[in-house]
Amino acid sequence: MAIQLDHQNKRAHLYNDRISYVMETFEGELIHSYWGKRMTLPEWSPIIPVDVFASFYPNPNPDNPTYSLDTLPREYPDFGRSDYGHPAVRVRLHDGTAITRFVVKSMELVDEKKPLKGLPYVYTEEGDDVQTLKVTLGDQKSGLFLDLYYTIHSDYDAIIRHCEIRNQGQETCQIENLMSASLDFYNDRNFDLIHFPGSWSRERDFSRIPVGRSSHLVESRRGSSSHMQNPLVLLARPETDDLGGQVYAMNFVYSGSFKAVVEVNSMDSTRFQMGLQDFDFSWKLKAGESFTSPEVVMVYSDQGFNGMSDAFHRLYRNRLMRGEHRDKERPVLINNWEATYFEFTEDKLKSICDVASETGLELFVLDDGWFGVRNSDRSGLGDWFVNKDKLPEGLKGTADYINGKGMQFGLWFEPEMISADSDLYRAHPNWILHAKGHIRSQGRNQMVLDYSRRDVQDYIIEVVGNILASHPIEYVKWDMNRNMTEVHSEILPIDRQGEVTHRYMLGLYRVLGKLTERFPQILFESCSGGGGRFDPGMLYYMPQTWTSDDTDAHERLSIQYGTSFAYPPIAMGAHVSVAPNHQVGRMTSLKTRALTSMMANLGYELDLSQLSQDEKDQVKRQVAFYKSIRKDIQFGRFLRLLAPGDSRGTAFMTESPDKKRYYLFYFRGLNRPHVASFTLPLHYLAHGSYKGKIINFDDGKAMDHTFPIPPMDNETLGKRTYTSDFLNRFGYTFDRQAGDFDSHLIIFERCDT
Ligand code: DGJ
Repeated sequence: MAIQLDHQNKRAHLYNDRISYVMETFEGELIHSYWGKRMTLPEWSPIIPVDVFASFYPNPNPDNPTYSLDTLPREYPDFGRSDYGHPAVRVRLHDGTAITRFVVKSMELVDEKKPLKGLPYVYTEEGDDVQTLKVTLGDQKSGLFLDLYYTIHSDYDAIIRHCEIRNQGQETCQIENLMSASLDFYNDRNFDLIHFPGSWSRERDFSRIPVGRSSHLVESRRGSSSHMQNPLVLLARPETDDLGGQVYAMNFVYSGSFKAVVEVNSMDSTRFQMGLQDFDFSWKLKAGESFTSPEVVMVYSDQGFNGMSDAFHRLYRNRLMRGEHRDKERPVLINNWEATYFEFTEDKLKSICDVASETGLELFVLDDGWFGVRNSDRSGLGDWFVNKDKLPEGLKGTADYINGKGMQFGLWFEPEMISADSDLYRAHPNWILHAKGHIRSQGRNQMVLDYSRRDVQDYIIEVVGNILASHPIEYVKWDMNRNMTEVHSEILPIDRQGEVTHRYMLGLYRVLGKLTERFPQILFESCSGGGGRFDPGMLYYMPQTWTSDDTDAHERLSIQYGTSFAYPPIAMGAHVSVAPNHQVGRMTSLKTRALTSMMANLGYELDLSQLSQDEKDQVKRQVAFYKSIRKDIQFGRFLRLLAPGDSRGTAFMTESPDKKRYYLFYFRGLNRPHVASFTLPLHYLAHGSYKGKIINFDDGKAMDHTFPIPPMDNETLGKRTYTSDFLNRFGYTFDRQAGDFDSHLIIFERCDT
């Protein structure tokens, strides 16, 4: 891994064993030359394409009319000088113009990766083979400078980018747009755009369209990364799928509004950008001040979507998530939300806890409703003191009971929100985002605290901190259940109101930073009405996220499929809930619900005390089994084999970290009559011989499907061995199924070592 620099000509080549990224300078302009599979550059002969085009492509240099910025492949386009594409930077100067000419000043190597003050970021650890390139651009007229940072690791196929803008001029200006990453693929629009739209309880659908010849925006303007889009955008070759092909990805390490641009120009070049949303953003930059953008992680893979995901997963598991829990197996939890909603008593919680403890569950999470006057979602948010009507023995009594049963105690908070009917609101009606003379819109009957205010941040740090310090709490679920409206802060001046949403995020990150630093032993899980903020920004502070409020096993396959494109299974909270399911009313077996959750971070969310003895026994076997495999699942390589929607079913596989065990999860979906059995090639098994084992929690016996020729059971399977070649190329044969939503887990274990 290295960064090759040509100071004289201002060119840089970032590379490791698998990827290359090249920038050059032409007439002072920073040019994007290449991103993709590792290559060897010719001895600094330029690779910039400079074509001459007709008069409708103006020339920024009157002395050299041979080029236009509209057609050059640019690395960080500024605004106003013949480039009609989306700029990466646009600053409104004191004279009212927004025209800048940022030319390359220098390129220098920085061995370490600088922390981003106040923002989440991909960090490095001692011994990491990592280098950072700083490219400085300057605009002579305004005195503005841009430092573009690029980090490359030898072990991860990612380039991590952010930028800093410095005002070295005499005048105040307004940043109107500042992308964290931007580049142009010259004369190349052979891409599909892939993004992950959705809604509450339908997060991260896989959506794929050809980029064609126009502009596409993937964005959130809601004040959070949101359910509706995810800050993950892919450009893939049309033939790319999970198993193979080229893909270029950007993922924003940020939890607020964002924007990604994919734009094809008239010469078939594709611009790809990601950064802060500029729709309702501006930032006042006085002389001498600087502003830092959040980071974008850019991954290239020629190994299909699975190759790309593996790069994201390893990087995030090892260098984004932090703290004591990063490398620890995560506890199997029971959460009372779907079991009781707001209507619980101490006795009810105890009855669930008793069964949870008997079945081997490790952590009891008390969800919404334990505080203030919180008997519905109409009141109480903000009043973070225990509701003694529900919990007469207080939080301490509940925690002691749970601890007495050998389980850890975890607690739900929603500290960014406030109910109109709360003591906190009555005391501080102006602590919310609001604007004088405008209605205060509610969402789920609640309003948004103004986290851009220091006094609000400090209050939350103190109140939540006191509860955590005075109770044996080992897990926190940090929820957030609405998007922003009336975005205005009472304490900011008029010309800083465009800063509110970003200041909110900086405030939130400060609060999270303080609390997670003070309580390193606590496992934090983020949540936003399920997966409304499933993004790398939150993962930096909280190493797991509640994936979705939709707990239906069949629906979850699509949600977890989409989520897994960037985010590793250890980060995905996945719970077994009751059937019929509360969101869609669907019946699925306890086994199918468990297998869906076991691909990720298993938990339960139902009234265990209502289960039959048979079901309790099954849960007990599931929990014991998951504990025996969770190290492999949580730290292994996750692979998608069959996408949801495939008529043959959905299949995923996890490879254990030592590459000796492979867990094949298969889900049938809706059954169909008169269909052939099918054989699924496994593609990824390491070279060797394998024995297979079918896992069944019903009664411990094998299922009735084939391996590879029917009939086959565990006894027979255990005696036979199969080569990796056979399983990878020919595959594992699934027989016809009985009924809908059937599922299977088959473990293949190396037997030749
Ligand atoms: C939304 C979360 O996603 C649920 O799991 C639950 O915690 C509710 N909020 C509680 O209000």
